[in-house]
Amino acid sequence: MTTSATARTQVQRPIVVGAAHNAADVPATDMNEHTLPSSVTAPVGAVDAYLRRVVEEAELAPALAEAVLYSLLGPGKRARPLLAWHSFAAVAAGAADHSECLPAAAAVELVHAFSLVHDDLPGLDNDDLRRGRPTLHRHTSVAMAVLAGDAMLTLSFQAIAQRIAPELAGPLCAELAVATNAMITGQVYDTLGGTAAGLSDQQRLEVIHRNKTGALIRVSCRVGAMCALHQLGAPIDDTEPQLAAITRYAEAAGLMFQIVDDLLDVTQTTEHLGKRTGKDQDAGKLTYPGVMGVGASRAEVRRLHEASTAALAPLGPAAEPLRQLASFMAVRTK
Ligand code: IPE
Ligand code: IPE
Ligand code: MG
Ligand code: MG
Ligand code: MG
Repeated sequence: MTTSATARTQVQRPIVVGAAHNAADVPATDMNEHTLPSSVTAPVGAVDAYLRRVVEEAELAPALAEAVLYSLLGPGKRARPLLAWHSFAAVAAGAADHSECLPAAAAVELVHAFSLVHDDLPGLDNDDLRRGRPTLHRHTSVAMAVLAGDAMLTLSFQAIAQRIAPELAGPLCAELAVATNAMITGQVYDTLGGTAAGLSDQQRLEVIHRNKTGALIRVSCRVGAMCALHQLGAPIDDTEPQLAAITRYAEAAGLMFQIVDDLLDVTQTTEHLGKRTGKDQDAGKLTYPGVMGVGASRAEVRRLHEASTAALAPLGPAAEPLRQLASFMAVRTK
């Protein structure tokens, strides 16, 4: 264990995407979630059990705990805790005792669940359906959804602060706070505007997506890698090559994740997706298919998928689950 964890947090930087190439209209969705091997999805059971424990041990008002659990343990993909878990495994390799990364994996899912509950509120996207069920404010009330979101955000930091060694918990909380603020900034740009003047639609779109979705995917991977470095007794610093590789992977995968989300909104049915489709255009949102078309958006997904897996080269076979996750995230249909 190191007592000198010196994680430097990085603010999201807008990066201009190069012109899309090979915009052939080939299906981006010829596989589905069943293509993820059970070795990759296996941690979901442990993550869900841990999330339940975190909520139950917090002694919230019973109705609040019920609302939190409705959102948190609903049928989502748990992509972010899986990214944390497998980033941990990629860096720690054979030495892995995964119990150290569980609180961090739980924390990123808590922030994600909070972001979904607030994203669905009438003042934001005003959605009725999430994960095939009524959104939390429809299931309970707007007041309860606001408060359950507040509680999940707080529980995420509580999980790290109370369940992880202090010399690691501090850097993890700082990383997660920066990423959460980036997500909220992205939601402001997406909902209310306010990006820097003089950007093209494509540049604005990339800033929105890297913030509202990319930042949380990025921090999910980084907290997993940071827990692994801590377990190995290595310094936690961005010059550390494994952390740098994981970060490059996550930045490409994070932008890709939201482009796929935009594509699913125009290519899938509400029934299949479990959330209302066609809503981005109705709401006048800036989206990849809206700005560059479906074919070029799919080409961009392929480019980012390749960039994400190329970044993992230094990690060798231990990063295979992360490669499988990237492939899944590129072709998912929900
Ligand atoms: C949906 O996220 C919202 C975005 C940030 C794109 P997910 O697609 O990960 O949603 P769940 O957790 O699987 O329901
Ligand atoms: C959500 O983006 C990003 C968040 C921070 C939650 P969307 O608004 O496109 O997500 P969905 O489509 O409602 O899941
Ligand atoms: Mg939204
Ligand atoms: Mg939404
Ligand atoms: Mg969407």
